[in-house]
Amino acid sequence: MIKIAVLISGGGTNLQAVIDSLQEGRITNAEISLVISNKEDAYGLKRAEKAGIRTAVLSPKSFESRADFDRALMEMLEQAGIDLVVLAGYLVIIPSTLVEKYRNRMMNIHPSLIPSFSGTGAYGLKVHEQVLERGVKVTGATVHFVDEGTDTGPIILQKAVAVRDEDDAQSLQQRVMEEAEWKILPEAIRLFCNNKLFVEGTKVRIKE
Ligand code: GRF
Repeated sequence: MIKIAVLISGGGTNLQAVIDSLQEGRITNAEISLVISNKEDAYGLKRAEKAGIRTAVLSPKSFESRADFDRALMEMLEQAGIDLVVLAGYLVIIPSTLVEKYRNRMMNIHPSLIPSFSGTGAYGLKVHEQVLERGVKVTGATVHFVDEGTDTGPIILQKAVAVRDEDDAQSLQQRVMEEAEWKILPEAIRLFCNNKLFVEGTKVRIKE
């Protein structure tokens, strides 16, 4: 049974998509063992509690140093016997110690077609504002393994979404979530849990 930890900071709609995929049997031989948020008011925590999933709030602000926080996060994941870490709207920088320990076992969902509109400062609604500002006709979402950079790890899945003339940042964000994020994140987890992902350098090969 693959033990998954989902790390969140906000609404948790991507977490909900994963919960639903597990409950509907689209992902098998896996469970979400733990949901960790750095924000105690993250609505995603309520989604986890409703699904009977253990939750924890771990904020860098409640530690003497960042190193203490990083250690506490690592220990929490180790004690829970986590096999796969999923970052779903998680806005805390992942320390290199954690990246190393969970190399190719830590995934992130990003609301654009990486490398476009990614990296420092490109997160949440800002991404869609930048997309509209640039006037691109196609955007989408990406699931990738996490490496030492920001949104730079090996790409697992991507899904394109057309930008409409009438879009504003909110309507675009909603459609990217509905048509892309909530589909490719559960699918990436399914592939991982069925040993179908093979990382070769900076590329991920899917062997169904
Ligand atoms: C989503 O746009 C996701 O792509 C980004 O964070 C936003 C909030 O996601 N990583 P959620 O509703 O908290 O899952």
